[in-house]
Amino acid sequence: MTEEGIEKLIRSELIGFGGYAASKSAETLKSNLEAEAEDIIKLDANENPYGCSPRVNRALAEYKNINIYPDAGQQELREQLQKYTGVLAQHIVASAGSDQLIDLIMRLFVSPADEVINCIPTFAMFDFFIKLCSGKAINVPRDEQHNVDVTAVKKAINKKTKLIFLATPNNPTGTITPREDIIEILDTGIPTVVDEAYYEFTGETMAPLVGKYKNLMLLRTFSKWAGLAGLRVGYGMFPVEIADYILKIKEPYCVNAAALAAVRETLQDTDYLMANVKNIIGERERLFSGLQLIEWLKPYPSQANFILCCILKGKARQLQQSLQARGILVRYFDQPLLENCIRISVGKPEQNDILLETLKIIGEELND
Ligand SMILES: Cc1ncc(COP(=O)(O)O)c(C=O)c1O
Repeated sequence: MTEEGIEKLIRSELIGFGGYAASKSAETLKSNLEAEAEDIIKLDANENPYGCSPRVNRALAEYKNINIYPDAGQQELREQLQKYTGVLAQHIVASAGSDQLIDLIMRLFVSPADEVINCIPTFAMFDFFIKLCSGKAINVPRDEQHNVDVTAVKKAINKKTKLIFLATPNNPTGTITPREDIIEILDTGIPTVVDEAYYEFTGETMAPLVGKYKNLMLLRTFSKWAGLAGLRVGYGMFPVEIADYILKIKEPYCVNAAALAAVRETLQDTDYLMANVKNIIGERERLFSGLQLIEWLKPYPSQANFILCCILKGKARQLQQSLQARGILVRYFDQPLLENCIRISVGKPEQNDILLETLKIIGEELND
């Protein structure tokens, strides 16, 4: 069948769908780079440079029941999450990464042509799933400091508005949305998703309001603070009625057995993991100061495990390529509201040192 033939058959609104520009693995890139895969400094996907708890590696090595489907009702996991979050298990549903919950929430609320308010620039997967549902993204730009424009959000609401999406801290800007602003948005009554993927780096949460606001949905993940990105496990906290629907529409075994075992161990080792989070926060501040000293970069303060920088001289894409050629991976953006920017995930001290050194060398080349 010709490609033209395929396009006659698929949903017309998905013709030309851009997909998500996911980070490339070190293995995929290694043939183009001078560095060996294990020497690559991967600062492009906000992963945890310290990895997971050693207890997780031990538990997975010893795991015996790979031939058995995991518990579709997630009973033990939801009880563990109740202990961790302080929110009752009946409000909680887990998934294969919080990405999957974004998808499930869209599918639950959004029919074709329904509107979803998105506070841009923000996490690209919100727009991805809006489009996948044939919904319409109503983009409300953040202000120059990347704060949510609450007045503009409220103005954008109409009869077709089904959801509001809001990440705090926001990816890729690192900005936190103050509690009063979130409450003002919740008071509109529109179902609102507050994505707290980076919660552990701030300690600020709306969790105590889950269930109290009938329109508040909170998302969290084990990918960032707990170093489980590769196992794909996230969770959401919802009003019970919404949690029940999400449980019904999710695929039964969306959290796999390895992820269940990993979360069990992770939640027994929070002191170790939070010590790593503390190191990352300390390094973030040190990296920020180092980046500020580079006159052709403008870093933005961040409350998460990454730093967004505007490039004041040269092109972000070129900088990303020069760093990649030297074995350092960062993410670049060149789109409205994120013109000529890179996002650097905070690495270990020695990785951040190499990055800063390399940026200085590239800067000298820029001046030549
Ligand atoms: C704001 C935000 N939400 C959700 C996710 C997805 O996390 P997960 O790995 O749990 O799918 C990310 C990952 O980068 C993110 O930045």
